[in-house]
Amino acid sequence: MNRTMTVEHDVADLGLAEAGRLRVEWAERFMPVLRQIRERFEAERPLEGVRISACLHVTTETANLMLTLQTGGADVLLCASNPLSTQDPVAAYLVTEGIRVFAVKGEDNERYYDHIRAALEHRPQITMDDGADLVGSLHMLALGRYDDVAPGIRAWVGSLPQGEQDEIIAGVTGSTEETTTGIIRLRAMAADGVLRFPVIAVNDSYTKHLFDNRYGTGQSTLDGILRATNLLLAGSTVVVGGYGWCGRGVATRARGAGAKVIVTEVDPLRALEATMDGFQVMPMAEAAAQGDLFITLTGDIGVIRREHFLAMKDGAIVANSGHFDVEIDIPALEDVAEAGPRELRPYVEEYVVHGKRIVLLGRGRLINLASAEGHPASVMDMSFANQALAAEYLLQKGPALTAEVHRIPIAIDREIARLKLASMDIGIDCLTDEQERYLSSWEQGT
Ligand code: NAI
Repeated sequence: MNRTMTVEHDVADLGLAEAGRLRVEWAERFMPVLRQIRERFEAERPLEGVRISACLHVTTETANLMLTLQTGGADVLLCASNPLSTQDPVAAYLVTEGIRVFAVKGEDNERYYDHIRAALEHRPQITMDDGADLVGSLHMLALGRYDDVAPGIRAWVGSLPQGEQDEIIAGVTGSTEETTTGIIRLRAMAADGVLRFPVIAVNDSYTKHLFDNRYGTGQSTLDGILRATNLLLAGSTVVVGGYGWCGRGVATRARGAGAKVIVTEVDPLRALEATMDGFQVMPMAEAAAQGDLFITLTGDIGVIRREHFLAMKDGAIVANSGHFDVEIDIPALEDVAEAGPRELRPYVEEYVVHGKRIVLLGRGRLINLASAEGHPASVMDMSFANQALAAEYLLQKGPALTAEVHRIPIAIDREIARLKLASMDIGIDCLTDEQERYLSSWEQGT
């Protein structure tokens, strides 16, 4: 690790910094909410001198979050939350901006955890996590479970004077968590009584779900499918498995592109909503024979199975945008197929089932990440606005919060929506004093 520069870092190549700057600047154009927060942070410096260690995907959008925190006065360190997602030019650029970055695309497990160690060595007062690897490592140390941490972290902790190990975790006011997987881990820690500080579940905020799951996944799932196949959606029959946050986004966008959309569901409430929204609703067993394109977004296993493959039309295309690659039963497809897989284009594989061609996209993995670019910057703007305001909130209220996973306060969610509307130049009404009184009173019935 290079300690000769103004800030410590471990990145691939500082020579990439200029290319990184241009990419970060491009993303910034589509992040007006974070920009408004940055302007306020510049004036108020609410994070003055606060040490923040962030373990997030090192991307252009994350760079804008880091710069916002720095503008608020924070002393920021960033390490990767995934060894493969680091954009090396972005990492280099942030170092030139005085942010300690420890992330190299393709880093091995040892280096990945060395970088997490650097995040701990920073003695953070606030941590930001995406998958709970940083907070998890911190707690393993606090619990004395040295066998459960990476060797590099274990060796470092062993070299610390007695008592300092506990000081590290005691110095943390709280953390934020970006994703569902991390929230699940942290809730399990809270349930076991081992979580030592409050965590704000950025993932659970309304502004995050609305943009990430509905609009982001809605658009990027179709984008991935179109890039892989160059299909024309108009006039085709698209079957959407699951009418949750993501499914609603995809179904609506597919209809907008002229497709006839069928929804499958297991929850009567969601199925009713899909029906009243004007979609055809039926079991997958029936839809299987009608669809030209199938997209699963349920978070469930085996949504498309053997009997469904057998019922499909010649040429049917099957894709998944749910988190894990278990929604389409690929082993069953391989079992029932007499031929395949035959790769026709990148991410496009054909099987032959009883003489009919069935096409699987992206090997059943998240199609918007496999063959498109994930979420647009304007979607991440909302997530990262939540991150920035959650950090500020933790600083103010953290000591009074219990060591559990907390939802982001609704007032912050509303503030982010207000900033987004302001950036779009959309005004809304305010409650009059009379309306405030009316809505908060039980005595005024008429
Ligand atoms: P959600 O819980 O709002 O919706 C899931 C829906 O699927 C529910 O309505 C449920 O009743 C339905 N469902 C469950 N089993 C089913 C089955 N066998 N057949 C038909 N419907 C079924 O969840 P959300 O937010 O829509 O997320 C769905 C999945 O997408 C999750 O795995 C999530 O992690 C993933 N996701 C993917 C993103 C991406 O970038 N591709 C982004 C965000 C989430």
